[in-house]
Amino acid sequence: MPLSIEAQPAPCGALVYGADLSRPLSTEDITGIREAWLSYQVLAFPNQTLSIKDIERFAATVGAFGQDPFFESVPGHPHVAQIRRDADEKTPLFAESFHSDWSFLPDPPIATVLYGNVIPPVGGDTLFANQYDAWDALPEATRRRLESLRGIHSARRGYARDGLYGERDAGRSMAIRYSDEALATQLHPVAKVHPETGRTALFVSPGYTIGIDGMADPEASELLMELFRHQRQEAFIYRHRWSPEMLVLWDNRCLLHAATGGYDGHDRLLHRITVAG
Ligand code: SIN
Repeated sequence: MPLSIEAQPAPCGALVYGADLSRPLSTEDITGIREAWLSYQVLAFPNQTLSIKDIERFAATVGAFGQDPFFESVPGHPHVAQIRRDADEKTPLFAESFHSDWSFLPDPPIATVLYGNVIPPVGGDTLFANQYDAWDALPEATRRRLESLRGIHSARRGYARDGLYGERDAGRSMAIRYSDEALATQLHPVAKVHPETGRTALFVSPGYTIGIDGMADPEASELLMELFRHQRQEAFIYRHRWSPEMLVLWDNRCLLHAATGGYDGHDRLLHRITVAG
């Protein structure tokens, strides 16, 4: 069956039909999926009954497995983590702040694959913010100012001992392991040129960007706050509604994403793999 790509009425996102991800994909399908991914940034494959091995095989068609700090992996699957929240859980929602996965690493993952096993009947959408559009919508003078700047990225707000998922985070079902390694910092250009499309994306996020290299804190905070407000405007957002057995692939180089709640009293369980550059 040929691939069929259905664009979402949103600034990014498409549904993909005609590929059975429980089997090895043909070279033609792998190429078609990559082209669609680069065009739409987020691809969702509904109605895919997949094992963890199937998810791993699909991720390997996008690239090598990424590095996943701070998560305990699924036994026997060192590159697979569970995104999990139990029905009665009271901890702060995981990943509610917009971010690009693991952007505090020297080589952040290019992609993330997320598969929905248990999806609540209400809530739990994932928001995606198109950062090509966010960049393009900035005034030219701002773009010129940002072009030479580098953001300081760190995992500390979430994963340090005193972070959101640190030593005071009791009762979380998800296997997060805080560490002093979260205090490390890494520089990345604020204007990120996507190596495959050549387009520029705004590459800062409230989740992981804590400063601007060489800029005093008050000035950097003011600039970052302005960029954080700008980059998550409704005009750039695709709200992804999950269904059980749906696999989603997104591009971390040009998107931010954020989890949403609204499903208290219901379990939610997904399996996640990051894909290296
Ligand atoms: C994530 O950021 O990996 C999780 C997104 C979600 O739970 O919707």
